[in-house]
Amino acid sequence: MALLPILRFPDVRLKKVAAPIAKIDESLRQLVSDMAETMYEAPGIGLAATQVDVHKQLVIIDISEDKSDLRVFINPRLERCDGFQEGEEGCLSVPGIYEKVERAEQVTVHYLDLEGKEQSLVAEGLLAVCLQHELDHLNGKVFVDHLSQLKQTRIKNRLAKQARVTA
Ligand code: NI
Repeated sequence: MALLPILRFPDVRLKKVAAPIAKIDESLRQLVSDMAETMYEAPGIGLAATQVDVHKQLVIIDISEDKSDLRVFINPRLERCDGFQEGEEGCLSVPGIYEKVERAEQVTVHYLDLEGKEQSLVAEGLLAVCLQHELDHLNGKVFVDHLSQLKQTRIKNRLAKQARVTA
């Protein structure tokens, strides 16, 4: 097990589009385990492989209170999006920033599990938000891309200031 470094916005590597995973093997299982350790340590409720500079279609999510419900999504695709919700989002790649983002209330996602089996899941509420947020990462998008240009500039300035303070 190992903690992986998390890319920070506006790192250009966060804009890479992830490639589909062709083979589920030991190295992928190791990556899932390292990503889970990294997400729990942060702590966060979701992590996309993109954020640890691995540009493969892999997302992990655990929205439980006690880290007991790790969900792994390989090659996930959003098939249906219904309704509307707006909630405050944060991201391990955009530390300390929380902003309201509009999302679908309910989504259906198709994916492979760690055994390579086709699965589908209907999610709503927080899990739906989390899925949309993490799948955005696989497409090279972070949640601040949903905000106005002005807000994005403010966030970049704040993060640059934070980096100077902690450097
Ligand atoms: Ni994120």
